[in-house]
Order: sequence, then C-alpha cells, then structure tokens
Amino acid sequence: MSTTAKPGPQSAWQSTARLIARWLDRRERIDLLMESLPPEMAGAERARCQHLVFGVVRHSGRIEGALAGLVAHPPRFVTRAVLYVAGFELIEAFAEGGDTGQPARIVHHAVERTKELASPAEARLVNAVVRKMAAILQGQRAPGPVAPAEALAEYFSHPAWLVRRWLGTFGAGATRSLLEWNQSPAPLYARWRDRSTPAADWLQASEWGGFYTVPSGRWPEVGPLLKSGSLYLQDPGTRMAVELLEPRPGESVLDLCAAPGGKSLLIVDALVTGRIVSLDVPASRIDRLKENLSRTEGVEAALVQADLLTGAAGVLAEHGLPVKYPAVLIDVPCSNTGVMRHRVDVKWRLQEGDFTKHARHQGALLAAAARLVAPGGRLVYSTCSIDPAENQRVVEAFLDRHRAFVLKKSAIAVPWIERHDGGAAFLLQKA
Ligand SMILES: C[S@@+](CC[C@H](N)C(=O)[O-])C[C@H]1O[C@@H](n2cnc3c(N)ncnc32)[C@H](O)[C@@H]1O
Repeated sequence: MSTTAKPGPQSAWQSTARLIARWLDRRERIDLLMESLPPEMAGAERARCQHLVFGVVRHSGRIEGALAGLVAHPPRFVTRAVLYVAGFELIEAFAEGGDTGQPARIVHHAVERTKELASPAEARLVNAVVRKMAAILQGQRAPGPVAPAEALAEYFSHPAWLVRRWLGTFGAGATRSLLEWNQSPAPLYARWRDRSTPAADWLQASEWGGFYTVPSGRWPEVGPLLKSGSLYLQDPGTRMAVELLEPRPGESVLDLCAAPGGKSLLIVDALVTGRIVSLDVPASRIDRLKENLSRTEGVEAALVQADLLTGAAGVLAEHGLPVKYPAVLIDVPCSNTGVMRHRVDVKWRLQEGDFTKHARHQGALLAAAARLVAPGGRLVYSTCSIDPAENQRVVEAFLDRHRAFVLKKSAIAVPWIERHDGGAAFLLQKA
C-alpha cells in the first residue's frame, strides 16, 4: 500500500479515502480529522479534500443504503472508504446533471486509486460494486414530504429517529425543507471587523449587515485577514444572541461558555469601549478564545478559566473582577441541531437521550449564570439548537424557579426560513 502521494488532485482524493477510512472505523470527529492533514496540503488541494470528506459524511446514509446488498462481506476500511468517496462523487455528478461519461470516469478513477491504496483484487471489487452503485443512485428520486420517516432518513442521510422527532415537532413540510437544507453545502460566511477599513472588495455582501460570503479560491487572502483580526469566520445566525443582549458602550459584559469566542468578538464590536469578561472551562478551545481576545482594541478583555457549575464567582473575585454584571450572555453546549449543514457529522453522533441530558445541563448552567447578574441586569440564554426541549422548555423551567427574572424577548431561527444557521436566544431581565 502506498503511504505518500504527490501533491495534486489525486493526493487530495487519496487523503480523503484515508480520512474516511478512519471515520468509518472509529467515528473520529471530522474537524479533528481535517486538522490531522499535513500543513503542506494547502490551497485548492486541501479545499478539494475538505469538500470530499464533508460530502461523504453528509451523504453517508444514502451511500450506505445503496451499498447494502452489493457487498457480501464488508471489505477492509480503506476499500470501504473508496466506495464511499466514489458514492459521493456519483451523487454530486447526478445532482449536477454532468455529461454521460462522468460515472464511467468516477468508476475508473476509484479503481485506479484502489490499486495504489489497497490491492488489485480490491480494485476488481471496487470496479464491480461502484458500477452497480451508480445504477442504483441514478435511479433514485427524492421522496415527497409525506414519505415515511425511514425513506426520508435514507435519501437525506439522517438517523430515522431524528427524522421522526422532527416530523413530530415541525410537521412534514418543514422537516423536508430542513433535511434538504442540511444536505446542501454551506457557503463560507465571514464578518468584517475592521472599523477603519472598508471590507475587501472580493467579499460578497450578504443580506445580514457586516456578514459576507467568501468566494472559493480566496484562501490566500483570507488567511492574513483572519490573523490580523479584520475578518472572523462566522455564520450570520451567531448575531442573534448578541443583538438581544444589546451591549451598551462602556458597560461590563460577562460572556459565559465563551470559547472559542465568536460571540465575545461580536460583543466587543458592539461595545466599542468597556469591558468583556469571557469565561470557559480550561480545555483545548481556550487557546482559540485567548487568541480571539487578543483582538479587542478599545475594549478591556479578561479571560477566566473556570467551571461555571462549581463556583465561578470565587474565581472571578480571585482575578479581581466583579462578581455581578449588568449584561450576561450564556451560550450553552447543545445538540447543534441548528447547525447541521455546517457540522455534518453531528447527526451521526447525536443520540435520542442527548436532548434530556443537554436540557438538564443547560438548566444548571442557566441557573449558575443567573447568580452573576446584577439587580436590573440582562441575561441572554442562547443555543444553536432548534429543539424546543433545549430552548423554550429550559427557559420556562428556569422562570418557574427564578421569580426575579422575566422574559423580555426571544428570537428563534429555523434555517429553512431564515436561510442561515438555526438557534434560539432569550432575553431575561432581572428585577
Ligand atoms: C456552544 S459552545 C460556546 C460557543 C461560544 N459562545 C462562541 O460563540 O464561540 C459551549 C461552550 O460551553 C462550555 N462549557 C460547558 N460546560 C461549561 C461549564 N460547566 N463551565 C463553563 N463553560 C462550560 C464549553 O467548553 C464550550 O466552549
């Protein structure tokens, strides 16, 4: 088996097959898989690898369905990975209505790569299986909105239990739209942060002020702008919670569950002057929070590493920081059901019982956040979930037990209507 490949489109393909073999074998997180690529793999080659890895994981349920019955004994992971990558290329080719020779070229390419990655015998298997898979995928039609959950789940590559949950929560039409949304590749959004310079002219303005889409092929220009802090990669959906909080110039804002710091930077840019205190548990994401907080010109920034559930007030006091704030944001860990178009492997990791577990954790975090709000202060609870169990129900249970707070406003975004990531934010006012 060859272990190195010359740079170029073939090495992107081979790297994809190797990463997908690891994903099939150990279900490693795909953001970590992508980070394991060598730094020399850059530009178009890295972008191609990312496109293929995300595409395979996004469509893996449909590919698995098409493969079922075609292979009697599952081949080893690297060969299985080749079948999945070819499966995604076929899905993409049929969706784009490419020329009639394209499936044959995809088969040929998969066979040649298998000779390098595996063996001639496995290449013969790939040849036979990918041809049959092409015929199956080509003959498939998207199920209508009233199709059974299992048919929707297989075609749109989601777990059937999740599709059933959404059918019960949102109804048939909205579930169909959500599934389609999650299956479409996400544009790369970025926010322009530099107040003294207009946004780079190659960025494409979006309908959400300050947010732009980054055209493909602009990575060489994007890198330095990210480093300097002029640009931050961020979906327009992230602005909702900070808009509800409405940070006021000069005030002190506490950002809880802050890492990696996307909302801290939105707060900083709204504050212009004042102070931000960003708190998260000491973990790997804290380095990115630290880096982001180094880009807060005009606003005093403090980073606090503490567990909110085990006495954050003491740690704030130890740092010489206030223990009560007029404005507090808490952006809790959640199911990520609003951001599945970006985070394509989340749907395969999520389990039915996670919603109850998350809601319990979220309720405890919100109660801990409430203790850090000054009298008359504002508290925003936010998630990137579209599930009422993690949104409305957590807030209702909180209000039942915290009579000093009232709900002033809420914003719930579902991607099939807002056309950006989904999530929810609730503005709670303390008496
Ligand atoms: C959704 S992420 C936050 C994203 C962040 N607000 C942003 O905009 O970039 C949730 C965060 O909650 C943090 N977290 C989870 N449990 C926590 C706890 N007990 N105390 C403090 N932070 C916690 C996690 O470490 C994670 O970084």
